[in-house]
Amino acid sequence: MIVTQDLCKTFPGRGGHGSAVEAVKNVNLQVKQGEIFGFLGPNGAGKTTTMRMLTTLLPPSGGSAHIVGHNLARESKYIRQEIGYVSQKGGCYELATGYENLVLQGRLYGLSRAAAVHKADELVQSFHMEEYCHRKVKTYSGGQRRHVDLGMGVMHNPKLLFLDEPTTGLDPTSRTNFWDEIKKLRERGITVFLTTHYLEEADSLCDTICIMDHGTVAAQGTALELKRHVAGDVLSIGMSPDAFAQAKALLETRPDVRDIQTTADALKLYVDAGEHALPEILPLLVQAKITVTTLEMARPSLDEVFLKTTGRSLQNEDGKEAAQ
Ligand SMILES: Nc1ncnc2c1ncn2[C@@H]1O[C@H](COP(=O)(O)OP(=O)(O)OP(=O)(O)O)[C@@H](O)[C@H]1O
Ligand SMILES: [Mg+2]
Repeated sequence: MIVTQDLCKTFPGRGGHGSAVEAVKNVNLQVKQGEIFGFLGPNGAGKTTTMRMLTTLLPPSGGSAHIVGHNLARESKYIRQEIGYVSQKGGCYELATGYENLVLQGRLYGLSRAAAVHKADELVQSFHMEEYCHRKVKTYSGGQRRHVDLGMGVMHNPKLLFLDEPTTGLDPTSRTNFWDEIKKLRERGITVFLTTHYLEEADSLCDTICIMDHGTVAAQGTALELKRHVAGDVLSIGMSPDAFAQAKALLETRPDVRDIQTTADALKLYVDAGEHALPEILPLLVQAKITVTTLEMARPSLDEVFLKTTGRSLQNEDGKEAAQ
């Protein structure tokens, strides 16, 4: 659905002391059909800039991209017909009702009045907008407004939908409801490309996650791949400290053991895949007559991945933002 090669964007002369801002540097992305692709990164990482280039709104300074099979540089007209875009700010007309906004959007995309009305009815039902859709948008809550934005993004049945921070500012319940709507779009075969600051959103919603930092891709993969790639699963095996040396000697030569550390009463084993390592490691310890007192298997959080790949925690920035 999306392939980019060394995509770049430099804004001339507007950075500190009038220098150029390299907002996006050599970004290579691959987005598969039917997936929810999450673009994760702190403020200023280059997420919106990348999205604006992919949606044909901003010409790249370098590199190339194909969107839904069309060349970004030469076939933007075709790309626009295939994609939907919901910007960070949204695009509803405040003085019209949500329903009128939907129909107008359909008409702007060339649907007949009957087809636009039919599609708007379908979306009102699907996104549960019956209660408020005939009121003016200016009276809506943030969540209701985001639902209308989402509806406007899919009025013309795009194959690929871009959502820039669709859930920022929503309360936790509205946010999880919104995730359900996005998953419904995926069930209908729509590929979704979204940006977010929320780690738990990327973790539970996105099939593939791309971590952006300072205009470059810091890491890309499924949540599980990223977690394993960065730190591996952690097996904490409780035992008497007297047995540490023997257990270490027994386990450190295994190819799937990346690192072994000790705490006061446990051996911490960093392994490629905990579910495979555990059933093989336990019998070894039993055979060596080492008594295992406690056992725990844990996966690193996405924030740990973020910390390891960028040297910073996104959680703090997230928290700061929530407090604003
Ligand atoms: N038109 C512009 N002119 C100059 N600099 C720009 C322009 N648009 C964006 N930038 C800069 O490019 C960098 C990336 O901005 P971008 O909006 O892509 O970040 P983002 O990852 O979407 O951040 P956020 O999470 O805050 O939305 C920032 O340093 C920003 O100030
Ligand atoms: Mg942005």
